Amino acid sequence: MKILVTGGTGYIGSHTIVELLEAGHDVVALDNLSNSSELVLERIKMITGKQVKFYKADIRNKAALEKVFKNENIEAVIHFAGLKAVGESVAKPWMYYENNITGTLTLLGVMTKYNVKNIIFSSSATVYGNPAFVPITEECPKGMCSNPYGWTKWMLEQIMADMQAADKEWNVVLLRYFNPIGAHPSGLIGEEPNGIPNNLMPYITQVAVGKREELGVFGNDYKTHDGTGVRDYIHVVDLAKGHLLALKKLKKGSGLSVYNLGTGKGYSVLDVVTNFEKANKIKIPYSIKPRRAGDIDTCYASADKAKKELGWKAKYDIKRMCKDSWNWQSNNPNGFSGK
Ligand code: NAD
Ligand code: WQD
Repeated sequence: MKILVTGGTGYIGSHTIVELLEAGHDVVALDNLSNSSELVLERIKMITGKQVKFYKADIRNKAALEKVFKNENIEAVIHFAGLKAVGESVAKPWMYYENNITGTLTLLGVMTKYNVKNIIFSSSATVYGNPAFVPITEECPKGMCSNPYGWTKWMLEQIMADMQAADKEWNVVLLRYFNPIGAHPSGLIGEEPNGIPNNLMPYITQVAVGKREELGVFGNDYKTHDGTGVRDYIHVVDLAKGHLLALKKLKKGSGLSVYNLGTGKGYSVLDVVTNFEKANKIKIPYSIKPRRAGDIDTCYASADKAKKELGWKAKYDIKRMCKDSWNWQSNNPNGFSGK
C-alpha cells in the first residue's frame, strides 16, 4: 500500500515509517520540519536500507498537499503532523488551533478532492480528561481537556467522526496513544525535544546525560501508591506497530474505529525513575516540586479492544523502554545533528 505519513520526520512518525518500510509498504513522508530534522530520513535509511520520498511541506498549504496527491498514488494517510506541547498550547492557543485544526481540515479537504478516504489519526488519552474510570476503555466518556492541545485532539476526533457519518466511503481509525517513550533499538532514531523537555522520560535522559542537574517530580500528594502521578508508558516501537495493524483494519473497511494504544499498566513517576536507574545503572537525582497545573492522579488504558479487534498487544516492558530511551540519548547526546 502507498501511504502518506504526515509528521513523518517526527518522533512517532519516524518509528512508524521504519515499521511500514520493513513490512513492505510504499511510504511518502511529509513534514514542515517545525519540530524535527530532515536528518531523520538518513537514519531511517541506515535502519531499513530504503530511501523515503520526502516532501518538505506544511499541511496548511493546500497547493503543496495537492501536489503530493497529484504526483503520488496515495491510498491511505497516517496523520501525525501537529503541535504537541501542552504548556505552549496554553500560552499560544491560537497557534495550536490554527496549526492542528486548520492543518487537518486542509488535509481532509484535499483527501476528499482526490478521493483518498482512508485515514489513521494520532489522537491521545488526553481526550478522556480526568478519566471517569480506570483502566480507561474506549467507552469511557471523553472529558473536559485542561489545555488547548487536548481540545485540538478532542475536536479533530469529532470532525472526522462527523465526516465519516456523512460519507460512509471514509474509513477513519482514531488511535488514542497513552505515554509514548523509548526509541528504536538501533539507537539511530528517537525523541529530540526542543529546549527544556516537558515530558518525563526526555527529562530523565537529559539528567542522565548531564544536561540537567536533577529531575523535578511534580507533586507527591496524588492518590497513588507513592503519591506521584501514574501513567501508562508505551514503547514507541510497540506504538508504531499498532499503526500497521490499524492499516489492515482500514483496508478491510474500518468505518469509524477507535482504539486505545497503551500497555494497560500504570507506573508512577518514582517507579519510572527506579526502573531507569536499574535498567541503566545510573542514579537520577530528583527533588519533589509542586504539582504541575492540569495534571491528574492516574491514567492507564484498557488495551483489550486493540487486542481483540486489531490483534495488537504491547510487547516491551518498562525496563526495556528505559533502556532504549537511554541508548538513544547516550548515542546522540546532541540529537540528530550532533551539534
Ligand atoms: P513530533 O513533534 O515529534 O512530530 C510531529 C511532526 O509534525 C513534527 O515533525 C513537526 O515538524 C510536524 N508538524 C507540525 N505541524 C506541522 C504542519 N503544520 N505541517 C507539517 N508538519 C507539521 O511529535 P510526536 O510525538 O511524534 O507526535 C506525533 C503525533 O502524535 C502528534 O499529532 C501528537 O499530538 C500525537 N501524540 C503524541 C503523543 C506523545 O506523547 N508524543 C501522545 C499522544 C498523541
Ligand atoms: C508524566 C508524569 C508528570 C515531567 C503528556 C500530555 C498528553 C500526551 C503525553 C500528547 C506526570 C510527571 C513530568 C517532569 C514530572 N501527549 N513529570 N517531572 O502529562 O502524562 O502526558 O504527554 O498527546 O497529552 O499531557 O506526560 O511525560 O509530561 O508526565 O514529575 O519533569 O510525569 O507530573 O505525572 P503527561 P508527561
